[in-house]
Amino acid sequence: MFKDLVSKFVKEVPPYNFGVGDTFKPFREGVTEEIIMHKNENPFGTSPKAVAAMAEQIAHSNRYPDIRAVSLCEKLAKLHGVKTEQVMVTQGGTSALGFIAEMLIREGDEVIVTTPTYPNYLNLTKKNNGVLVSVPLDDNYEPVFEEVADAITEKTKVIFLANPNNPTATICDDGALADFIHKLPEHVVLVVDEAYFDFIERPGYRSMISEVADGVNLIIVRTFSKIYGMAGSRIGYMISNKEIIDYLQTDATGFCCNRVGLYGAEAALEDKEFIEMTIRKNKEGRDYLTGVMKELGFRVWESHTNFMFFDPHIPTKYFADELYTFGVRIRGDFCQCRLSIGTMEQNRVAAEAMRQIVREYRESGK
Ligand SMILES: Cc1ncc(COP(=O)(O)O)c(C=O)c1O
Repeated sequence: MFKDLVSKFVKEVPPYNFGVGDTFKPFREGVTEEIIMHKNENPFGTSPKAVAAMAEQIAHSNRYPDIRAVSLCEKLAKLHGVKTEQVMVTQGGTSALGFIAEMLIREGDEVIVTTPTYPNYLNLTKKNNGVLVSVPLDDNYEPVFEEVADAITEKTKVIFLANPNNPTATICDDGALADFIHKLPEHVVLVVDEAYFDFIERPGYRSMISEVADGVNLIIVRTFSKIYGMAGSRIGYMISNKEIIDYLQTDATGFCCNRVGLYGAEAALEDKEFIEMTIRKNKEGRDYLTGVMKELGFRVWESHTNFMFFDPHIPTKYFADELYTFGVRIRGDFCQCRLSIGTMEQNRVAAEAMRQIVREYRESGK
């Protein structure tokens, strides 16, 4: 049977979870539209400069892209103060993480994650027959680096750390993370996934790109999916020392990404206006929703991203399913609820729906 031919991972992996229950309840009367607040996308659109550049390139789709996106790598190197050969462009952060996992994780290798975190780390570990080691985050959803260090054994190969973390929206102490990096044993590679880094507003907060150096087993992952609004174009990148990037490039046998997205990404980097607008409107939405959630008595963890993690003190799956009856789609399948910040109009609809759900829940005496 065909089933016997496929890998154990493919047979066992649970289907991708879209955030609400298997049975979608119908929308309430008068609700006509779905509001997407479960994917952490940029709700303010795509950088207009990127749109123009991509539109122009569509007509040149007969031409292959630059196999290694040298021009984009040069711009990214300049932006981050590293050398061009320290940058590798990929099809989104997802593909970057895939390259890392495939290159490093061998059967029986231990992979440490600080949970709850981005579920993809789990899948990549399983897919490559690694053994997942979970170190829980503390009550503030921050990693305790002494505990992560204690979890390292001779078999540890990779540590995946999202900073800011998804789904919790929290960040760790940057100084503590830098110290941790420099104490890592030589047989361990740390991957710091900075997909949401541009949303951090803490003054002086450091990207771990500053710690990348020869002999340091550190890889930083970034994406154009969030701040630049290019999730559909699938462009991301990695920064590390030249040796690691050279190995990753060797493992990558094809084109790094699509031509249209590549030109869009280069233009998006120049679009300061769009970047600033996204940060400003995201902050407005975050402040507004934080206020509403606090007024409703929810516990809200301080968000450093374009999404929020909160405990509505109502069963999370029930809460997410009810919110969907108002058209508002969030994730209720983590240990708390996760809601992506939308446009102000969307945030207001979500806020009104949350108020109503809380009212109904209290009245029901549950
Ligand atoms: C923590 C984290 N890393 C990486 C990604 C991958 O993003 P993309 O493949 O769109 O670049 C995501 C997407 O939501 C994410 O949340």
